[in-house]
Amino acid sequence: PSPPAPEEEGPRLIVVANRLPVSAGYASEGKWTLQLSAGGLVSALGGVQGFNTMWVGWPGIFLPAGRERDALTQTLAAKSCVPVFLDAKTVDLYYNGFCNSVLWSLFHYVPLQTDSRLSETRTLQFQWAAYQEANRRFADVLMRHYRVGDVVWVQDYHLMMLPALLKAKSVDMKVGWFLHTPFPSSEIYRALPVREELLRAVLKADLIGFHTYDYARHFVSACTRILGLEGTPDGVEDNGVLTRVAAFPIGMDPSSFATALKRSDVRNNIAQLKKRFAGRKVMLGVDRLDMIKGIPQKLLAFEKFLDEHPEWCDKVLLVQIAVPSRVEVPEYQQLRSMTHEIVGRINGHYGSLTHVPIHHLDRHMTFHELCALYAITDVALVTSLRDGMNLVSYEYVACQAANAGVLVLSEFAGAAQSLGAGAILVNPWNINDMAAAIRNALTMSETERRQRHRQNYMHITAHTSQVWADTFISELNDTHVEAELRTKH
Ligand code: G6P
Repeated sequence: PSPPAPEEEGPRLIVVANRLPVSAGYASEGKWTLQLSAGGLVSALGGVQGFNTMWVGWPGIFLPAGRERDALTQTLAAKSCVPVFLDAKTVDLYYNGFCNSVLWSLFHYVPLQTDSRLSETRTLQFQWAAYQEANRRFADVLMRHYRVGDVVWVQDYHLMMLPALLKAKSVDMKVGWFLHTPFPSSEIYRALPVREELLRAVLKADLIGFHTYDYARHFVSACTRILGLEGTPDGVEDNGVLTRVAAFPIGMDPSSFATALKRSDVRNNIAQLKKRFAGRKVMLGVDRLDMIKGIPQKLLAFEKFLDEHPEWCDKVLLVQIAVPSRVEVPEYQQLRSMTHEIVGRINGHYGSLTHVPIHHLDRHMTFHELCALYAITDVALVTSLRDGMNLVSYEYVACQAANAGVLVLSEFAGAAQSLGAGAILVNPWNINDMAAAIRNALTMSETERRQRHRQNYMHITAHTSQVWADTFISELNDTHVEAELRTKH
């Protein structure tokens, strides 16, 4: 199968991410369905225009057989996506194991776990070997499509070895790496047995980007403390060679939400939902079902609020969308059971024949369904225990021009640094604090709501995903030119 034909001649932007923007599902012989992938990375990059973009990534399924693989490759080519196929064992050790049980947890301040079946060291060794092998596989596929002059933008914690692997193949390649999660304090990071290998590989990129200044600072101190390199205001220096490190806060595309809210099907959906929930305040949570999202803590705070304010029991409800994620990983399975148990307890205790306090849905929502929900709700509860940025908070603001709903936002989400002035900030570990924030949000005056909303709205419309991508890519081009000049002199 031929690679996707570039729409225009000239240099392209190659986005390399573990997950393609569409995930594949098998329909019938030789036919594949594609569903939009979940997560901030995809929703942000989906709103970026003006680049001749090609994606390289995993289509979200195990290695299919020969003919089916070709059919899927063709289907993806129509979306400018090039698949990296991984077998079941690699997916288990690399994706479920090293990426999601080790790096994802550690980067969100969850310490490494000891595995009771194998010694931790042996499990980690296998996972680490698979991680390196998967990164090599991504590098090989990329090299088959790379043309001199292309800009290569590597995304996230899954592909930290890639900058080194790519530069080893082509020293002149323009390579940027961006992390969509927090980079933790070096005190947490330094527990990782392969801490040096990952830092050294990432440092081969021309430009390294994070959502916030704090994450960039943590990364630089990990490099100085663990590798003994020099941290400068511009990045990390190794024997006179500088790797530029900076903060590039991500955003989203508010115009796609404004356009969606004008569609007749979305307007109808909004009218129906308003009728359905008439006379009650509606709060909303939209999260991937992930322990970092703090869903149990949010439910406990709602329970506490209902307990302290019985007069609200039949006047407020919480719609919680828990998008299934990483369902093979045991921690995610346990979280699902725990969440169901709490929802059941609260609904059993505070519900009545005519009112259910929590509408909990374990499913993916379409973009248009989500827009309608964002638009009709009075309060959004974004209570992550840690979160790189959290674009749900931005999307909620984008859809609240009419209502000026209140955003309750965790101080541990990157977004707290940008939407902190307009949102009610909470510590998600403090259930009392969150219950008080719920009350504050439900009873806030319209004047205050409008003023807070305006502040947030100004921010999200000025700091869009387009601005984020334009800034990163132009800085990557500049950094690369500077590096070339230095090598020549
Ligand atoms: C986060 C990560 C992304 C990831 C997404 C969904 O946003 O930063 O890299 O794609 O979660 O997770 P998944 O494991 O399903 O790709």
